[in-house]
Amino acid sequence: MGLRQGPAPCPIPANAANGEGILREARCARGAIAAGALAVVVAATVGLPFANAEVLPPYVIVGDAIPESLTGQPGDPVRGKAIVASRQTGLCLLCHSAPLPEEKFQGTIGPDLKGVASRNTEGELRLRIVDPRRLNPDTIMPAYYRVDGLIRVAPAFRGKTVLTAEQIEDVVAFLMTLK
Ligand code: HEC
Repeated sequence: MGLRQGPAPCPIPANAANGEGILREARCARGAIAAGALAVVVAATVGLPFANAEVLPPYVIVGDAIPESLTGQPGDPVRGKAIVASRQTGLCLLCHSAPLPEEKFQGTIGPDLKGVASRNTEGELRLRIVDPRRLNPDTIMPAYYRVDGLIRVAPAFRGKTVLTAEQIEDVVAFLMTLK
């Protein structure tokens, strides 16, 4: 399965209103942030292009949804639950509460994920995880499957999405159980 090992994408948190900044600040060690900041400054100073930006496989947005699976396969709700609950991988509970009574200290910044599948179709949930700014440009929710339009991403983490396509599908499959 696709749980990525090693450090998470770790751009410099540019400002507190930026979802990726909040997420990655929480996930990244101080040293990594400092090193990344230095790398960005150096690259900017000498005018190096940021190379190797990954081109994500295209997906089709229909209305406010991505109706088709990013992988062409259904996700696994058990793995998705682990990603949502994880303080390293999804970090959803930083902002959301979810019906996971065993998880302490759940967030209240975003809506409770309980019943989220009654309010959204599968495709709507997919777009909300992939790139919530398509729906609300001011949202603080991170785009979990986006590599462009981010600010001040350290070169080492350029072109890397927060979650893989497979992980997105696992999260969507878990959310679909929350009727
Ligand atoms: C930094 C805070 C933050 C994080 C982290 C975050 N979200 Fe959100 N999320 C929000 C906010 C705020 C909203 C409300 C809508 C908006 O701002 O556009 C939202 C909305 C949603 C919605 C729509 C809810 C509804 O009732 O229709 C879903 C689904 C969702 N988030 C799932 C997730 C999942 C799954 C994760 C982890 C993979 C996650 N979020 C991580 C802040 C966050």
